Parts: sequence; C-alpha cells; structure tokens
Amino acid sequence: MTILITGATGLVGTALTELCLEEGYTVHYLTTRKNKIVESSNYKGFYWNPAEKEIDTAALDDVSCIVHLVGASISKRWTKSYKKKILDSRIESANLLFETLKENENKVRHFISASGIGIYPSSRTKLYSEENTETGDNFLARVVVAWELAADRFKTLGIDVAKIRTGLVLSARDGALPQMVKPIKLGLGAPLGSGKQWHSWIHIEDIARIYLSVIANEREGIFNAVAPTPVTNSKLMYQIARKLDAPYWLPNVPAFALKLSLGEMSMLLLEGQLVRSEKFAAFGFTFIHFNLESALNDLL
Ligand SMILES: NC(=O)c1ccc[n+]([C@@H]2O[C@H](COP(=O)([O-])OP(=O)(O)OC[C@H]3O[C@@H](n4cnc5c(N)ncnc54)[C@H](OP(=O)(O)O)[C@@H]3O)[C@@H](O)[C@H]2O)c1
Repeated sequence: MTILITGATGLVGTALTELCLEEGYTVHYLTTRKNKIVESSNYKGFYWNPAEKEIDTAALDDVSCIVHLVGASISKRWTKSYKKKILDSRIESANLLFETLKENENKVRHFISASGIGIYPSSRTKLYSEENTETGDNFLARVVVAWELAADRFKTLGIDVAKIRTGLVLSARDGALPQMVKPIKLGLGAPLGSGKQWHSWIHIEDIARIYLSVIANEREGIFNAVAPTPVTNSKLMYQIARKLDAPYWLPNVPAFALKLSLGEMSMLLLEGQLVRSEKFAAFGFTFIHFNLESALNDLL
C-alpha cells in the first residue's frame, strides 16, 4: 500500500514515516523544499508549492491514503502576516490536494488530516471528548475549524475523512518540550500564569502510532489524540525540573508579562483544554507513554 504524506519532513511526519516504512508501506511525500527530495524504492519525495498551486502529480501514483500534516508552525510570533501564513499553509495545501484529486484519476479512498485540540474552548473544568461540538472563540480555534472544513470537502469525492485533534506533542527533537527545557535548565523554571491551565499532551511515539492505527484500520471521523493523563502547567513545569534536577522555586510568571512579551500567542501558554481520547480508549489502544513521568523519562 502506498501512502502520501504531506509535512513528512516535520516532527510528526518524520516519526510517522519511520513507522510506515517499518510496517512495509511505500511512502510518497510532498515537500516545499527541493533539497529534501530523496528517492528510494519505497520512499519517494515530490515537490509542491501550495501557495503557487504547483504540485508534482506523480506523487499520487498508486496512493490509496493521504496523511495531511502540513502547517506553518504556530509558535512564531502572531503578526498579522504570520497569522495569514498559519491559516493559508493549511487550507491552500488541502485545497490543492482536493483539486488535484478531482482533476486526476487516482485510487485515494482515505484522507487523514492533522487537527488540533485548540478547537475546543479553553477551560479548567470541562473535559472534552470527541462528542463535544463547542469551538473556541479565538484565532487558533478559528484556524482549526477552517482546517477541518477543508478536510471535510474530500468527502464530496467519495473519500473517507479522519481528523486527528492532536494535543501538545512531546519530543526531544523539536516542538514545545525543548523550548520548555531551556529556561528550566538555567534554573528559571516556574509555573506560567496561574499554572492551573491544562496541557493535554502526547508522546511523539504515541501520536505516530495513532496515525498508523487510523491508516491501518481505515478509520474515519474526529479523533482526539492525547495521552490519558493531561497535566496542569505547574505540574508539567515541576516534573520537567525534577527530571532535570533543576531548582524549581521561583514564583509564577505573571500572565500580563507573557502577554506583553508574546502578544496574542501567549494564549498557547496561558490557556488549555482538558481532553480525553474517548475513541482510542474504546478501541483498546495502548499508549506506550501513559503518564508524564514515563514520557519525560524517555525524552529527557
Ligand atoms: N507538534 C504539536 O505539538 C502539534 C499539536 C497539534 C497539532 N499539530 C499539527 O500537526 C501537524 C504536524 O505537526 P508537526 O509538529 O510535525 O509540524 P512541523 O514539524 O512544523 O512540520 C510541518 C511541515 O509542514 C510543512 N510546511 C510548513 N510551512 C509550510 C507552508 N507555508 N507551506 C507548505 N508547507 C509547509 C513543512 O514541510 P516541508 O518543509 O517539507 O514543505 C513542515 O515540515 C501540523 O499541522 C501541526 O499544526 C502539531
């Protein structure tokens, strides 16, 4: 079976590609960076430029499943133009895939899109499962809503669609964890804001396994992808400090200071959702890293 992955060069894409190759799948991937294109018998890169509606349609040869992971990072300062890039990178790329499938003969029957738990409103008390239909009233939630609508369009082509609402991915390689570790290593670890906001996290190995399970079982619908044990910000910071043997006694970093230095994107640190992967629990999916201690022992 051949799978086409967009964003395969990123954090989740790299881990997923490795798993897919181990499972014996052939992986095609689309990249905007020509220097990232390599080709072997079961792993082939193809160039695209969604902003210019440019795509190498050979990427679709024999493909039955597309995993769409593309998205400009949300952890760069949210200027007006960068906010546009966050939205456009996700939607234009999905739309280009849609138009390409519509206009070219293909064997695609499954489209799996990355999504985010940032779609749910921030809350300290509410537990969100896939059943919840409320959406937040902020930039990030609006991006996720548009992103999921772009994915849903593929249903009109007779393709099954799955949306993976991903929590905070913890990896030693990239993403949020190395950024959190830096100040803590310098002895500057402290809870952010109230410290009571939730972080529904997932280990990189488990998010890749979740995608693989959605591919292998041809699942469709909305899936929350988070470990079963979300933690508050103060617990996350504390556990990282403890694992690193770093001091952890400073007072909370006031929310206004983070808002002042980071602007609107400070919500990524100051707000959060308590989320449960109801569907994966029902499938009997076993998380390798069930609790934060196990994840940090592995990553740090
Ligand atoms: N990591 C997390 O904690 C987390 C949490 C929730 C949701 N997600 C979502 O899951 C997906 C994968 O996450 P990730 O952490 O693996 O992301 P990542 O490491 O930032 O990689 C995303 C990939 O998207 C492509 N890309 C970036 N900007 C682009 C643009 N303007 N136009 C076209 N392609 C562009 C890049 O591929 P090329 O350079 O090869 O083109 C890049 O490798 C993302 O959509 C992300 O929003 C991630």
